[in-house]
Amino acid sequence: MRHFLLAGTAALAISAGMARAEESVEVLHWWTAGGEAAALNVLKDNLAKEGVAWKDMPVAGGSGVQAMTALRARVTAGDSPTAVQMLGFDIRDWAEMGVLANLDDLAEKQGWGNVIPAALQEFSKYDGHWIAAPVNVHSTNWLWINKAALDKAGGKVPANIDELFALLDAFKAQGIIPLAHGGQGWQDGTLWEAVVLSVGGPDFYKKAVLEADPEALGGDTMRTVFDDMTKLRSYFDTSFSGRDWNLSSALVIEGKAGAQEMGDWAKGEFLRAGQKPGEDFVCIRFPGTQGSVLFNSDQFVMFEQDDAGKTEAQLKLASAVEDPAFQIAFNTVKGSVPARTDVPDTDFDDCAKKGMKDVVEASASGNFMGSLAHGYGQPAAVKEAVFDVVTQHLNGQITTDEALKRLPEAVAAAQ
Ligand code: BGC
Repeated sequence: MRHFLLAGTAALAISAGMARAEESVEVLHWWTAGGEAAALNVLKDNLAKEGVAWKDMPVAGGSGVQAMTALRARVTAGDSPTAVQMLGFDIRDWAEMGVLANLDDLAEKQGWGNVIPAALQEFSKYDGHWIAAPVNVHSTNWLWINKAALDKAGGKVPANIDELFALLDAFKAQGIIPLAHGGQGWQDGTLWEAVVLSVGGPDFYKKAVLEADPEALGGDTMRTVFDDMTKLRSYFDTSFSGRDWNLSSALVIEGKAGAQEMGDWAKGEFLRAGQKPGEDFVCIRFPGTQGSVLFNSDQFVMFEQDDAGKTEAQLKLASAVEDPAFQIAFNTVKGSVPARTDVPDTDFDDCAKKGMKDVVEASASGNFMGSLAHGYGQPAAVKEAVFDVVTQHLNGQITTDEALKRLPEAVAAAQ
């Protein structure tokens, strides 16, 4: 307050300087892979220009499972970070506890309601109030293919799961790892949900995953899903267990593996390695899922603070995230597409142009559906229950019959 006693320009200068020094955000996130960190730097730089200091709290681990554990520990200790990367149902859970800052004024001022898709708003708003700023739209039903290996196999991209198996056989014959997969619960879940969509189609995905219908979870279509998972497992290499997703992407980038099923954050790794879509790698919807999008969206939530400088910085972060120029600069690096529907696709590469078009089409047909593996299909407890069964089955610890019995039971118990 001392500066209020000073007069004239000196007072203004000191006051501005002090305000800037006080503004800081501590950001908890899991963007630690090369492409992710490069995208995050865009945000850090933008905030630095606004005079907001950035305290980084990275917690490695794809899909944010470890980050959410770290967050609970911080909040329990009475030391909430100011801003947190978060997904779907986790946002809802924290909102329900009444600890998230209300972003209504900023959202109103910037007209978020007109440009953020309704499916995202369902999670960015709680009880009619904005409590999260969506950064992007990612989706999980993608396949990333090494272009040289594909050309060697005849160059035709697989249109359904049988054609995928044929392509994987061709990769095997080339002596490379047919399918690069990392055995972690969330990655097994990411592969499984793409197979569910491919085998059963969007209506089955809705029934089995979004509605958790016990008959769909334990029925004949799900049997085919688990059988296909067993078959896919035969195309993994022997060291898949526990491998991080970006290391699997690296195998495809280096031509040691033919393909990887993964969300479009994988593209960030290809780009960072200097590769170009259509030249070095090919992006297609997971075979048999064209027309549907399993989405997730990274959002920033702000934990309420009683320090004016921190609150101001939180608003600057939220505002920076929704800036259309940032949406372009960030998402072209990250592999995602903008959360705002009014951003032109001009600066985006072919994969992202396709991604943006797919979002529009899938939304129009009612097949823009939340990804289970990335927090938009079911609350965390159900998601984890599915991961357990899927992983045990994929690792050969339980048979398909057992998986079909356990899946509806585990989901029901977690609800
Ligand atoms: C996030 C992405 C992230 C990926 C891998 C997903 O849940 O939405 O932003 O790149 O996990 O860490």
